[in-house]
Parts: sequence; structure tokens; C-alpha cells
Amino acid sequence: RRAPLLAPSFLAADLANLQAETERLAASAADWLHFDVMDGRFVPNISFGLPVLQAVARYAKQPLDVHLMIEEPQHYLAQFRDAGAAGLTVHYEACTHLHRVVQQIKQLGCRAGVALNPHTPVALLEDIAADLDVVLVMSVNPGFGGQAFIPNTLKKVAMLKELLVDCGSSALIEVDGGVNLANAGPLVEAGADVLVAGNFVFSAHEGPVAALAGLREQLNA
Ligand code: DX5
Ligand code: ZN
Repeated sequence: RRAPLLAPSFLAADLANLQAETERLAASAADWLHFDVMDGRFVPNISFGLPVLQAVARYAKQPLDVHLMIEEPQHYLAQFRDAGAAGLTVHYEACTHLHRVVQQIKQLGCRAGVALNPHTPVALLEDIAADLDVVLVMSVNPGFGGQAFIPNTLKKVAMLKELLVDCGSSALIEVDGGVNLANAGPLVEAGADVLVAGNFVFSAHEGPVAALAGLREQLNA
């Protein structure tokens, strides 16, 4: 089995010290930096947006993986690219014209991702899968960090893996929400390529760098 990419989520970082947080992740096992944008409309919470991404980008060594939990994301794609996003993930549930949005993201030169809420079946991606670079499977309801992992995600990831193979899609499977040492191995077994982790990384008493190293070590074992 291939080693997954690790993507710590800034939502759980010390937001009053973003420069320090970004710099210490630079020398860690993190492959991508996950950046959760919330608009208080698509999800019942507001996090941070363009100027904060721009600030983090000044210190980031890894690609910025931007997860847009916002309505009408099509209006902000170019601005997020310009602020430093390497990947842009929009929600299936937020896009009436998803095919067009995905093409727009690719035209901007970003990795194109589509996220699925826990209740959204993977089969709905059948006609877009071949166009995607990333499918993000939400393993909690989006809006908050620190929630419990929804066990059905394992079955969902396995079904998505099958669908991607059937569609000839090389999209990466990213799992986001409640990821920890207990579910990371099974997720990778099921087909996950990218693991997002917020609280597991930033609330660890040993600190984020050691937490990421521990996760990496366990997945290599
Ligand atoms: C939830 C966000 C997640 C979240 C993950 O809405 O999309 O990226 O920050 O945090 P944990 O790992 O704490 O569930
Ligand atoms: Zn996220």
C-alpha cells in the first residue's frame, strides 16, 4: 500500500500565531497544508478567507490545499488561486453547475477537487469523476473541527475507489474530519490517498510536528 499524503488543517492551529504555525509545519511530515474556508451559509460557522490565506502563503513551504465550504464558490476561484491556493476543492452540494466550476479551477492551473458531505453518495460523481484531481470525502459534517469520525466513511471510501477505477479516473481520495491513529490505517486500506487532520495534529500534547511524525510512522509500519 502506498504512503498517503498528510494534510494538517489550519482550522485547529493557533490562529494568533499563523506565521509560527506555518513555519514549524515547514519542517514536518506534512505534504499539503489544508485551509478550511467557511462562509456561515453553506456551513453554520465562519472561519477565515482570502487575506488570511495570502498571509499564510508567505511562509508556506508545502502546497496550500483550500477547502471551500462556501456557497457560489465560482465567484471566488481566481481570487483564491491568486492568494496562493495550489488546490481548490468545492462542495458537490454547493454547485449547480459543477462541471463548469471544475473546468474553471483547472483553467486557473489549480488541482480540482470536489467534496462530498457525509450523506452524499459517491455514485453522483460518475459523470464528473474523470475530470477530477481530488475527491474529498467528509468524514464529519463540515463546519467544525474536533468532531467524531463517522464510521460509514470506510465503506464510502472503498466504493469511491471502485468508482474511480471504473471511470478511469486518477483522482486522489482525500478524507477530512476526525482522522486519528485509530482510523488512519483502515482509511488507507480502503483507498484513501490524502488524510486531513486538525485536532489530532494541533491538540497533541507532544506538538504538531511529533504528531505528524507519529502518524507517518504508524502508516509506514
Ligand atoms: C471540517 C473541516 C476539517 C476539519 C478537520 O469542517 O473541513 O478540515 O478542520 O478537523 P478535525 O481533524 O479536528 O476533525
Ligand atoms: Zn477541510
